[in-house]
Amino acid sequence: MADLQARTGEDKRATEVPVLRWEEPPEGPVLVLLDQTRLPSEEVELVCTDAPALVEAIRSLAVRGAPALGIAGAYGVALAAARGFDVDEAAQALAGARPTAVNLSVGVRRARDAYHAALARGGDAGQAAAAALAAARQLHREDAEASARMAEHGLALLDELLPGGGHRILTHCNTGALVSGGEGTAFAVALAAHRQGRLRRLWVDETRPLLQGARLTAYEAARSGMAYTLLTDNAAGSLFAAGEVDAVLIGADRIAADGSVANKVGSYPLAVLARYHHVPFIVVAPVTTVDLGTVDGTSIEVEQRPGYEVTEVLAPQAQVSGAGSGIPVAPLGTQAYNPAFDVTPPELVTAIVTEEGAVSPVTAEGLAELCGKAGHA
Ligand code: MRU
Repeated sequence: MADLQARTGEDKRATEVPVLRWEEPPEGPVLVLLDQTRLPSEEVELVCTDAPALVEAIRSLAVRGAPALGIAGAYGVALAAARGFDVDEAAQALAGARPTAVNLSVGVRRARDAYHAALARGGDAGQAAAAALAAARQLHREDAEASARMAEHGLALLDELLPGGGHRILTHCNTGALVSGGEGTAFAVALAAHRQGRLRRLWVDETRPLLQGARLTAYEAARSGMAYTLLTDNAAGSLFAAGEVDAVLIGADRIAADGSVANKVGSYPLAVLARYHHVPFIVVAPVTTVDLGTVDGTSIEVEQRPGYEVTEVLAPQAQVSGAGSGIPVAPLGTQAYNPAFDVTPPELVTAIVTEEGAVSPVTAEGLAELCGKAGHA
């Protein structure tokens, strides 16, 4: 069992094994991932030697969360290029591995564009592969910087909205270092509050069916030493009713031009609860998650996942091996509705915090302005 002890005041690295790293052993370059399906039991690495292996790792959620998908996608293109595979074919497969998180296609496009630009300048295949790798590394660094700036802006906003301090924050899914080149998005804000002694408690939704909250966010919260409590998703209503939530902080997989937010299924019900209980509902995401090409929430493609994720309680490894590997919790043959994400309309979102600042109230104009500042089309 990996170290799960919560240690008050101690702020360890989010994981012992880096979430993702590029390596060049004599056999050829590889992308090494921390296999998130195995957390919290163990920190095990997964070595991808080609783009199809990475596509499988993305589908099985070994690597996951919008910003990390973008970074992984970019390295995946670099991997295909460095190993002499068809880069456009690899880019297409990687970008299509999961449809909702727009960061994935943004990352893939950045590395592929760098590859083609190098060729267009007269570079050879080796130089083009190096350009793709440089683009992936650059995106990785930028994401770490964006994460730090989101934490600053997010904490400033929290302090403005909740001047008393002692924040009790509810979060959903997983938005920490496991999804990022840095310390994440929404979780990074909670972590900043914790470090400054301003976080009273992090409420962690377990996030059925794949338990990203229980397996991953609780893992990161425990290692950071913050006070946290895990709850089932359906306990959130009673928590609001008891007046125990000061703010909701979540990440996003895609934000449409009108400010509609696609995030892990279960986010929308939290937004409805937050509105009813007059609690701020704050979305924290880098500008690369804003997709000005998607006009509104109805145009966002929501990934549908296999029904067995709902009809079975999965041992982490079963997520990879598929149906029949978990413990059945419904009669055989039961159909399941299993969207991976839901969409929250902008009118329920108090603020969207990015590395360029916050938009509140959430308007198309405000979002477009932030994207303009970041040079993100
Ligand atoms: O299916 P997952 O685990 O990839 O879903 C991840 C989420 O929904 C996160 O909240 C989102 O990507 C934002 S992470 C900064």
